[in-house]
Amino acid sequence: MDNRPIGFFDSGLGGLTCIPYLMKRLPEEKIIYYGDTARTPYGSKAESTIRSFSLEIADFLVKSNVKMIVIACNTVSATCLDDIQKRFPSIPVIGIIEPTATEVAEICDENDRVGIIGTKVTVSSHAYRNLISKGNSRIKIFETPCPAFVPLIEEGIIDNEIMNLTIRYYMDDFVRDNKLDTVILGCTHYPLIQDNIRKIYPELNIVNPSSIVVSRIEQELEAGDMFAQKSDFENVFFASDLSENFLNMIDHIFKNEKAKVKFLNFDFEKERMRRDSADEL
Ligand code: DGL
Repeated sequence: MDNRPIGFFDSGLGGLTCIPYLMKRLPEEKIIYYGDTARTPYGSKAESTIRSFSLEIADFLVKSNVKMIVIACNTVSATCLDDIQKRFPSIPVIGIIEPTATEVAEICDENDRVGIIGTKVTVSSHAYRNLISKGNSRIKIFETPCPAFVPLIEEGIIDNEIMNLTIRYYMDDFVRDNKLDTVILGCTHYPLIQDNIRKIYPELNIVNPSSIVVSRIEQELEAGDMFAQKSDFENVFFASDLSENFLNMIDHIFKNEKAKVKFLNFDFEKERMRRDSADEL
């Protein structure tokens, strides 16, 4: 038994899409979430920048006494999962890409044509393609970046014709020319536009990594005898910029359970400036 919280992080609100699946499957588990809303999006940034932001957040979560880190961000998982695992060898660090690629390699076969959509960094890393091919080299895989999705989603432009046009702009040719039957939502923001994608391409099977990662969390907790018991712990959601969209999304996810949730602002830049000016005095 281990009653410490699980630490989740993402560049913004995308990683929140994992939380309802965790709460449904493992309702006793407690959560500390960090969304780097002040510095989002990560998906078009240099790898060295993504690595330094991510290590900073992982340090913060470990200092907050988490029992496990879940990288609820494909871009970070593609860039620096190993670095974070090496830095914290004593706690499990789970990325979101490998559990999904393993499942896709198991459920698809050589007749399947699988498309991966994600940020520029995730797609150019070929992390999904390499891991799926390792499991089953006969599955046909196609990849394309959709860099405008995340800024629109962070702005709350979802149930809207602008989003539908943007989906068509990136995906129409991609789906048609490659005759796709399956698409992997290779960014944790994308489950928020899953309904739009389903309506536009009703024939596509949609794979959602935000739900798949929860099975891996459960396996790790079981292997380490680390399941939590019921307690009064309030789940805590930190954001580097506690924006209205972030709060709305949490409201949307927690509906009637608001009382058990705490929102806090923690901005690394402001914290550094505060510490530097305290040192100067
Ligand atoms: N939600 C993130 C992902 O899964 C990153 C989006 C971004 O910041 O570009 O890749």
